[in-house]
Amino acid sequence: KEIAFIFDLDGVIVDTAKYHFLAWRNLANSLGFEFTEEHNELLKGVSRVRSLEILLNIGKVELTDEEKQPLLVQKNTEYLEYVNKMTADEILPGINGLLDYLDEHSIKYALGSASKNAPLILEKVGLFNRFAAIVDGNDVSKAKPDPEVFLIGAQKLNMKPENCIVVEDAIAGVEAANAAKMVSIGIGDANLLSEATFVLSDTTGFTIDFLRNIMK
Ligand code: G6P
Ligand code: MG
Repeated sequence: KEIAFIFDLDGVIVDTAKYHFLAWRNLANSLGFEFTEEHNELLKGVSRVRSLEILLNIGKVELTDEEKQPLLVQKNTEYLEYVNKMTADEILPGINGLLDYLDEHSIKYALGSASKNAPLILEKVGLFNRFAAIVDGNDVSKAKPDPEVFLIGAQKLNMKPENCIVVEDAIAGVEAANAAKMVSIGIGDANLLSEATFVLSDTTGFTIDFLRNIMK
């Protein structure tokens, strides 16, 4: 049967998850509280605005929407400093090989990311033109775990949701894939991503054997 892939970006194609973490942690510290990697798991896959709300909750800081605005700018400005230095070297191991494999087998793939910076990041690492479709934070109104981003991706690929395989590193992303009735491959801690159809500890797990196995 015909299948297609939909990839999350941050933490799957490139390791920008670490840059998001650094920028959020600095913001939290500047507001006077600690922000750990464990806290950061809650922000993965979540929109910028929602991420700030979760972060402020962790620090028990209450702000008006007006007061939140400069903080969102501050976080994104720092994040973009890291992004602007990115090169193709920051594509995660196994991803180039995986995309080559999909091209060779004429399997279509799209991007399904919550990030408004997704097109810029893809440009930076030279992958912008490889995706058959790009759905990013500018295209969706409902953030993961809502399935919207992946359903639009399937639509753009002209594929039925049940024939799409989502690759995700975020709990919210795996939930979104499941809500879209798609197959999901979680990248990361199997305990955190236990709702995924398959879990790989990192992107080096995309071997030919693994791909043949899941496409049976
Ligand atoms: C991805 C990341 C999140 C990030 C969100 C919005 O889903 O996993 O950590 O907050 O995108 O990204 P943006 O680049 O628009 O701030
Ligand atoms: Mg991600």
